[in-house]
Amino acid sequence: MTSESAVSDVTGITQACGTGNTNPLPQAERVTIFDTTLRDGEQSPGCSMDPRQKLKVAEALARLRVDVIEAGFPIASPGDFESVRNIAQRIEGPVIAALARCQDADIDRAAEAIRDAERGRLHVFLATSAIHREHKLGMAREEIIRRAVEGVRRARDLRDDVEFSPEDAARTEPEFLAEVVEAVIDAGATTINIPDTVGYTTPAELEALFTYVRTHVRGIDAITLSVHCHDDLGMAVANSLAAVRAGARQVECTINGIGERAGNAALEEVVMALRTRQDVFNAHTEIDTTKLCATSRLVSTITGSHVQRNKAIVGENAFSHEAGIHQHGVLKRRETYEIMRPEDVGYREGNLVLGKHSGKHAIRARIEALGYQITEDELAEVVKRFKPLADRKKEILDADLEALVLGSDPAEQGPWRLVSLATNGGTQHLQTGSVEMVRIDTGATISEASVGDGPVDAMFKAIARATGVRMTLTDFRVRSVSSGEDAQGEAWIDADVDGRRVRGRGLSTDIVEAAALACVEIVNTYTRTSERIAASQTAAEEVTA
Ligand code: KIV
Ligand code: ZN
Repeated sequence: MTSESAVSDVTGITQACGTGNTNPLPQAERVTIFDTTLRDGEQSPGCSMDPRQKLKVAEALARLRVDVIEAGFPIASPGDFESVRNIAQRIEGPVIAALARCQDADIDRAAEAIRDAERGRLHVFLATSAIHREHKLGMAREEIIRRAVEGVRRARDLRDDVEFSPEDAARTEPEFLAEVVEAVIDAGATTINIPDTVGYTTPAELEALFTYVRTHVRGIDAITLSVHCHDDLGMAVANSLAAVRAGARQVECTINGIGERAGNAALEEVVMALRTRQDVFNAHTEIDTTKLCATSRLVSTITGSHVQRNKAIVGENAFSHEAGIHQHGVLKRRETYEIMRPEDVGYREGNLVLGKHSGKHAIRARIEALGYQITEDELAEVVKRFKPLADRKKEILDADLEALVLGSDPAEQGPWRLVSLATNGGTQHLQTGSVEMVRIDTGATISEASVGDGPVDAMFKAIARATGVRMTLTDFRVRSVSSGEDAQGEAWIDADVDGRRVRGRGLSTDIVEAAALACVEIVNTYTRTSERIAASQTAAEEVTA
């Protein structure tokens, strides 16, 4: 008997403790991964993304091999519509889903947004629980069924792939839920998703509800049963897995678990739990797990929503062993304390990669090794920003390179550019900040100075004076993206400008400069949007005149 099988015998687990388990067991059933990072995830406070960022996330999700990308809620705003359409036109591989309420205008708009998708899905939803029926919708049970059926029929007239979600299903009376589900299957729904909208249920309860639905709904075996859990009580992943045990064959989840309120089930946790414990769940996914860490970093960098160090699977500490006894055990045999291999999730320590003599080809090769794909133009942009950074830093680490790849283009698009800045801090004197800014399109240079509540505040005020953009800071976060004395600092600022919430990100080895660059990004985003709106109003007035 090998020592590996000895371990299996002791624990009663038939697999070799999870590590190295890459192939599905012969009887393992396929679970579809429906990623809703761009829809439910984007709804989470502070996680909004612009269309360019959404496309980057969608590309990464396609590389991760998710089965379905829920790209957005097209009726919500013209920006959402455009973004879904853009993704539907450009992303190949996954099914592209768009969300709609059971209303004609919503469904038509969603169908229009995914018109060019190679494979598209309409996802319609309507709340079914008593509390939503009475207090939100003011509809009786019969009306809910009628509207749900009409919504699904309209969607089926437009697309063959239609998902229906009875919102707040986990708090819906099971017999009514079964009635709704049966009616929408008859109307043509091809996937039925059971959401725990408010993160209220428990694994045992949800397993029982899925079993109930599976045994009480006619036609249930002809459709795909899906689960969608929120994390208000910290049970979203456990609940999703319980649903899989009871027959769910699609799991809806988000990268890093971002989402409405406490978030959704974390994709990386669901996928690795299914893979590591195939013996329990008897299921597998088609996800390329080696891309999990890179995708997690991309989403956290784009949204500014950082992953806690001890986060399962993708946290910085997920595979580091501090205790001597653990290190000793891992050195002797890694399975003593590791149930997954770090390389299987693409986990890596920050490592020295490039320096100031590195050329374009080496930079591209490293970027690709990190799991990113970039165009020639994007590479040229990275190379442009790489050189000054390499002059300031001895070592360019992977994290530095990633930060450049995901860099803040809006600041470079102008119209404003920071030429220089100086601040004066300390506890004894008034803090001051001065900046020199250039307006790229006109060449005008403006210098301004201000006092403030600290050097950063003084510098913000000086930028506001120079550009004429009045902003109120609502959030300011800084963190280091790599390690060492000359690590790059990343600053995130949220500001209220003219009643609009605008976000900026800045990156520099100097944290005050990073904050200034984030502030310039806010000024630029705001100025460009205002100028665009003003231009379209003038055009409209000219047409009317
Ligand atoms: O949480 C929820 O109920 C949803 C539905 C739209 C599926 O996000
Ligand atoms: Zn949700």
